[in-house]
Amino acid sequence: MKAVVYRSYGAPDVLKIEEVEKPAVTENGVLVRVYASSVNPAEWYSMAGLLIARASSGLFTPKDPRLGADFAGTVEAVGNQVTDFKPGDEVYGGRSGAFAEYVNVINAVTRKPANISFEQAAAVPTAAITALQGLRDQGKIQAGQKVLINGAAGGVGTFAVQIAKAFGAEVTGVCSTKNVDLIRSLGADHVIDYTKEDFTQSGQRYDVLFDIAGGRTWKEYKRVLSPTANFVIVGGPKSNLVLGPLSHILKIKLTAFGASQKVSFFIAKFTREDLAILRDMIEAGTVKPVVDRTYPLNETADAMRYLGTGHAKAKIVLKIR
Ligand SMILES: NC(=O)c1ccc[n+]([C@@H]2O[C@H](COP(=O)([O-])OP(=O)(O)OC[C@H]3O[C@@H](n4cnc5c(N)ncnc54)[C@H](OP(=O)(O)O)[C@@H]3O)[C@@H](O)[C@H]2O)c1
Repeated sequence: MKAVVYRSYGAPDVLKIEEVEKPAVTENGVLVRVYASSVNPAEWYSMAGLLIARASSGLFTPKDPRLGADFAGTVEAVGNQVTDFKPGDEVYGGRSGAFAEYVNVINAVTRKPANISFEQAAAVPTAAITALQGLRDQGKIQAGQKVLINGAAGGVGTFAVQIAKAFGAEVTGVCSTKNVDLIRSLGADHVIDYTKEDFTQSGQRYDVLFDIAGGRTWKEYKRVLSPTANFVIVGGPKSNLVLGPLSHILKIKLTAFGASQKVSFFIAKFTREDLAILRDMIEAGTVKPVVDRTYPLNETADAMRYLGTGHAKAKIVLKIR
C-alpha cells in the first residue's frame, strides 16, 4: 500500500510516498481502508524532529518513518474478537501512521458521522478531541461562563468555539482580520481581531481561557482571568525547535506558581467514547468541521508547508481515496 514516510528529520521535503507493507488485521483490530486523513501540528513536530522528543523518536533519524493520526474510511476486515464492526462500515478515528491507504486500529475507532463526507470526518479526531477534552475536563466549562479562545481560527480553535457554545458558554474568539467572519459564523458571541486589539488589555475577565496560540506572558494572561478561572494551555508558537510548545508551557507554569487560578496543560487522548460524543454533536448539527484545503496524499508535503506557516485556516485534509 502507499504511505507517507520520512527517513530523516527536516522541512516538508523529507516526506515521500513509498510502497509499504499493508497492515494485517489483528485479533482485536479493525482494518480500515483510509479515504481521508488530516494534518496536525503534532505531525509537523515529528517531521521537524524536536530535540526534546528525539530520545524516544530516534536521535538522528526517525525510528518510525510513518506519519499521521486522523482517519476516516471503511472497514475492510475485522479480527475474530471484534463483534461491533463489519466490513463496509463507515468509520473514523485515530491511529498512528494514518497518512496511508490502510490502518489496523484497536480502540480509537467508531461509526463516522452520517451527515458529513469522509474528508470532513477526517478533520475531526485530533482537533475536536483536543477541544472537547480541554474545555470539558481541564476547563470544567459551565453554561453561562465567559470563555476566551485564543487561536480560534485553527484546527483546534474552530472546534473549540463550537463546543464551548454547545456547553452554553459566552464565547470570545481571538483571530486575525481575515478570519473574523468565520469565527462569528461558528457562533462566537464576540471576536477580537488581534491585529487591531490586544485581548490582554480588553478589561474583560474570563472564567476559562483556552490558550491554543500561546505566546503571551503570565502577567498578560492574568489581567483577563477571573480569580477562580481555569487557564488551559493547549499549545504554543512553533518557533522553538528544541523544546517546541514546551518552552511556552514551562514558562507559564513556573511564573503562575501560587496563583489563585488553576493553570493546566494536557495531552489529548483518542477515546472511542469521545469520538462518539463528537459524532453525536455533528449529527445533531451542533458542531461542523471546517475544511479549508484538501490535498491529495502525494502532496502531503504541501499540506505540511501550509500548516507550518502557523496561519492555516481551520483544518487541512488529505484525500487518499
Ligand atoms: N495539548 C494537546 O493535546 C494538543 C492537541 C492538538 C494540538 N495542540 C497544539 O495546539 C496548537 C494549535 O493546534 P491547531 O491544530 O489548532 O494548529 P493550527 O491549525 O496550525 O493553528 C493555526 C491557527 O493559529 C492562529 N494563530 C496564529 N497566531 C495567532 C495569534 N498570535 N493569536 C491568535 N491566533 C493565532 C491562526 O489564525 P490567524 O491566521 O487568524 O492568525 C491559525 O488559524 C499547536 O501548538 C498544537 O501543537 C495541542
